[in-house]
Amino acid sequence: MGPDTEQFEGRKREHIREALNPANQAIGLSGLDRIRLVHDALPELDLQDVRLDSLCLGRSAPTPFYVAGMTAGHPDAVRINQILASACAQRGWAMGVGSQRRELESPAAGALDHWKRLRDAVPDLVLIANIGVSQLIRAKTQDLRRLAEEMGAHALAIHLNPLQEALQPEGTPQFRGATAAINRVCSELDLPVVIKETGCGFSGETLRRFHGMGLGAVDISGLGGTHWGRIEGARAEAGSPRAAAAATFATWGESTVDSLLAARKSLPNVEAWASGGVRSGLDAAKLIALGAHRVGYAQPALEAALEGPDALQRWMEVQEFELRVALFCTGSATPEQLRRSKEKVVRAQ
Ligand SMILES: Cc1cc2nc3c(=O)[nH]c(=O)nc-3n(C[C@H](O)[C@H](O)[C@H](O)COP(=O)(O)O)c2cc1C
Repeated sequence: MGPDTEQFEGRKREHIREALNPANQAIGLSGLDRIRLVHDALPELDLQDVRLDSLCLGRSAPTPFYVAGMTAGHPDAVRINQILASACAQRGWAMGVGSQRRELESPAAGALDHWKRLRDAVPDLVLIANIGVSQLIRAKTQDLRRLAEEMGAHALAIHLNPLQEALQPEGTPQFRGATAAINRVCSELDLPVVIKETGCGFSGETLRRFHGMGLGAVDISGLGGTHWGRIEGARAEAGSPRAAAAATFATWGESTVDSLLAARKSLPNVEAWASGGVRSGLDAAKLIALGAHRVGYAQPALEAALEGPDALQRWMEVQEFELRVALFCTGSATPEQLRRSKEKVVRAQ
């Protein structure tokens, strides 16, 4: 194992450790606390009639949930991904994977074998490949196509994380040419492209730049959960300029609620996926009522998966049950009914 590989794997392990530290979660900033669903004391349905099926990239899916991309490309990730993938396949959740920079840049090293094996074990799982925009700028579309094909991906997520890249010592804060690169991939790749943030969300102004590109979905991943400014701050040397800047930027970003509302307004014809600080099935219901087609969890799914397959299944069951209860108590038979209704959600000022 060369020094680059060691450094890469060490960084990924630190990211997992720091993501589990509550101090690196932007708790209370998602905007979800100010959203209330309107109680319907007389829902004209039985709880057992409530269905969770919904659309995912234009096709029907058993639930509106997904695990947002986290781990890839290092040995610890293999076990975590197996646990996440088999639970997601079993329960009808989609699954994003973590950055596949290494698979893209050194395919000869067998970096894709793990994904091929995983795909063989879960042939029906909706799996989403993942690459950072600064890698995308230099990547050839044919290499992205090969990456997606070899793992049987249903879509390619391109992640945007300027704050993290700026604060991370090993970061790649080179985003010049990013818009053109995204546009190129959207037109050349015969797979849906999902644009995602990683916990700092989107403004309407940024989202409007994707207009007309033919995106499959936008995953807003807003402020309110895992915060990469805080995580890189925790990794920075105490007293260093990076540590000081990370503290200054600890609340940087567009909240999950604001980002979702901006996405619905700026890109009304693009599927809106909501993640960033989603911590219950009720949070998921609130986001659906605000217009989200799908709702994603990263850190809580990781935490449960690290406890083991049974803990993960229990946690997923809770999310599904809470969403069902919220649908029942708002008189909605499906997530789509809640999403389309304008009267079932209130935003406190
Ligand atoms: C340990 C960890 C690693 C992550 N790695 C990636 C990544 O490689 N690519 C990516 O697009 N997002 C990555 N994310 C960001 C998540 O997909 C998600 O956008 C963010 O964590 C907000 O969701 P949360 O508040 O539920 O954690 C990672 C998140 C965690 C917790």
